[in-house]
Amino acid sequence: MPILPSALAYVPFVSVEHMMGLVHHLGIETMLVGIAGAIEEDFKRWEQFDKTPRVASHSEVGVIELMPTSDGEMYGFKYVNGHPKNTTEGLQTVTAFGLLADVETGYPILLSEMTVLTALRTAAMSALAARILAPSNAKTMAMIGNGAQSEFQCLAFKAICGIETVRLYDIDPAATQKAARNLERTGLTVVSCKSAEEAMQGAEIITTCTADKRNATILTDNMVGPGVHINAIGGDCPGKTELHRDILLRSKIFVEYPEQTWVEGEIQVLDRDHPITELWQVITGQVPGRRDDTQITLFDSVGFAIEDFSALRYVHRAVKGTPFVTQLDMLADPDDPRDLFGMLERSAL
Ligand SMILES: NC(=O)c1ccc[n+]([C@@H]2O[C@H](COP(=O)([O-])OP(=O)(O)OC[C@H]3O[C@@H](n4cnc5c(N)ncnc54)[C@H](O)[C@@H]3O)[C@@H](O)[C@H]2O)c1
Repeated sequence: MPILPSALAYVPFVSVEHMMGLVHHLGIETMLVGIAGAIEEDFKRWEQFDKTPRVASHSEVGVIELMPTSDGEMYGFKYVNGHPKNTTEGLQTVTAFGLLADVETGYPILLSEMTVLTALRTAAMSALAARILAPSNAKTMAMIGNGAQSEFQCLAFKAICGIETVRLYDIDPAATQKAARNLERTGLTVVSCKSAEEAMQGAEIITTCTADKRNATILTDNMVGPGVHINAIGGDCPGKTELHRDILLRSKIFVEYPEQTWVEGEIQVLDRDHPITELWQVITGQVPGRRDDTQITLFDSVGFAIEDFSALRYVHRAVKGTPFVTQLDMLADPDDPRDLFGMLERSAL
């Protein structure tokens, strides 16, 4: 007779299918606003968190990263990869999954897909930063790089910052066509452009979200006028940046976690004594954000563990009592905690 798992063996699991169901159930804009709210709450209690730069294992074609953190009650971590060449092989650049666990016991309390959730949390984080840093009357965003992340970015900026028009550009016109099609019935005015310069015309916010495993120059200095907010997403690994250094020298730079951003972000090309501002300090009101209408603000985003923790925390709450979660037989739970071997033996009978 098979030995059935005990109640302790089961961990709530949110599959891709269930994550998509949850997004449709709540509405994507509601979920983006909710995740941004969870991130804002956690950035306000930044000092409570155990923080460490993510641990990366690089290869010539990509990277995997592990991103742990804890607020003292729950641990969280995410596994995420980044393989820019993947899309040419019919695979995604970024895939991820993550977990929350109880600090008291170390037992997992949620396992979740995080490919969709990373796209949601990255967009929510970007729009939260822009809500605080971008010019207050911003209505138009240039969206450069129209891959997997792009529609999420556009919708988050609509829901959280009141963006009405997005101007799309990608070196691959098929990506722009895909994004324009996906954004058709969202209420956004969508303009497809033939160059990054064209996309930036009239835009108060510029999002760069491209994937390349090198120091690319998506924006040059002469392309960026005064007063804009730049949301730089794609530069997130050593040797992988998107902006010309001169743009950084003209901008006030905001980062998530300096120890990680100095290694992975746009600022890796700057001297270590260059002034940068930690976003959490702006969110808590300890330091000012944008100075005036002429200042260029730059959110040098690489993606930090606390944002994933916040997104998982949001999902953990949101799936309770819904059909968008299953129980996974994931933890071995022997009757005698020291008799793991005995449990294995008995299972063969
Ligand atoms: N900061 C974060 O928190 C965070 C989170 C998720 C992903 N990312 C990064 O964001 C980037 C985009 O992710 P994705 O999943 O959308 O990737 P993707 O591969 O699906 O899309 C990238 C797009 O960029 C385009 N592109 C490449 N070079 C370009 C150029 N010079 N000009 C215009 N377009 C160009 C490609 O044609 C492609 O359509 C990746 O580099 C990824 O590592 C960052």
